[in-house]
Amino acid sequence: MKILLIGSGGREHALAWKLAQSAHVKKMWCAPGNGGIGRERLAAGGECIECVNLGAEDLPGLLAFAREKRPDLTVVGPDNPLALGIVDLFQEHGLRIWGPNRRAARFESSKAFAQEFMRKYGIPTARAATFTEVAPAREFADSLGGRCAVKADGLALGKGVLLCREVAEAHRAIEDILVKKSFGSAGSAVVIQEYLEGTEVSLHALCDGRAAKLFPTSQDHKRAGEGDTGPNTGGMGTYSPAPFLAGDALTEAGQLILRPWLKGCAAEGIDFRGILYPGLMLTATGPKVLEFNARFGDPETQVYVTRLENDLVELLMASVEGSLARVDLKWSPNCAVCVVLASAGYPGPYAKGKPIHGLAEAEKLPGVKVFHAGTAWQGAGFVTHGGRVLGVTALGADLRSARDQAYAAVERIQFEGMQFRRDIAAKALG
Ligand code: AMP
Ligand code: GLY
Repeated sequence: MKILLIGSGGREHALAWKLAQSAHVKKMWCAPGNGGIGRERLAAGGECIECVNLGAEDLPGLLAFAREKRPDLTVVGPDNPLALGIVDLFQEHGLRIWGPNRRAARFESSKAFAQEFMRKYGIPTARAATFTEVAPAREFADSLGGRCAVKADGLALGKGVLLCREVAEAHRAIEDILVKKSFGSAGSAVVIQEYLEGTEVSLHALCDGRAAKLFPTSQDHKRAGEGDTGPNTGGMGTYSPAPFLAGDALTEAGQLILRPWLKGCAAEGIDFRGILYPGLMLTATGPKVLEFNARFGDPETQVYVTRLENDLVELLMASVEGSLARVDLKWSPNCAVCVVLASAGYPGPYAKGKPIHGLAEAEKLPGVKVFHAGTAWQGAGFVTHGGRVLGVTALGADLRSARDQAYAAVERIQFEGMQFRRDIAAKALG
């Protein structure tokens, strides 16, 4: 098979690495890819993955490339091309592509849509309402005592969520989104949710339009600083499984969310083939969905592919073709931890082009794989090329040994200004 993978981050390196292990894959391109992806070899034949210089949002360019090369499957990593309708476009041209179509991707691209869907189909979520006018939005925020999450409706690079603790702050957030248009057209409407307290957990389910197969849990670390302080980031580290939701409780939570979700999709004629990734808050009154994403999480994917024992090509094909009911997901009982190494300044402005040392030494440690998020290959070695640079991932018999091995690998890596959190998985380890 020939595969075209779209995206350039750590999630895409993780997907590329796992897809490359499949005996089915004889050729793989990645658009645009990154330094690490371009040096990954296919298990069948040993050829390197070929990075092609096309952006993930360049739909006409990607379509022209796919029409020429005829990949047997295109795999979409990031949310933006999904929201732009890349799946619909490829399908119109008879090209097989994995990911939700534009309408199905609205679970992520419109928070107002997702919130209304949850209300209509009884999916547990925060108390919430959607507004396009300032006055009623303020009134609702006031009724919550100002303790709320004010969210721009559309995609805003993960930045459109403002967490407020008091009325004045909530009013400012509403003003920022609806009047000042701080998030552009993503902010033509706001969703205001009550502020939920609890532990956050990521769920993922692979869907084929009719069935949904739940993954084990994972937990992200969204804040830049240790102890969950500092600004929000794309994610500074993950581990799986997260012990806060396990066994019967996980099965129950999955059913509480996925049953009504599948029923709603059927009722609304939404054909969702891809990953549904609900962000959950485990509250005193049970798990509640904070948001839906319509793609793999980053860096959740790094810990999932490390534990997944199935052939990923076969899983994605079953998702595209609607035959997931016949497939069993198989997971390693081992635990995985991913520590993100970021550039100085991230999530604000940062420098690029810093030489990275010690990658080969880090990967000599048993169970360690270093996924590249923002790197470039420059003649003699890798240099930094993004905010999140690497996802150092380790598999271990338990969470503690996976964590210790990931940090042992981190110790061997250096680049100027390297920053990371030393407390990934600490919550689970007590
Ligand atoms: P979202 O992109 O909607 O997941 O929001 C980003 C982050 O904001 C989440 O990961 C949570 O940490 C936090 N958050 C979002 N909604 C709420 C809420 N209703 N209550 C408390 N925290 C929230
Ligand atoms: N890990 C957060 C995200 O992918 O949205």
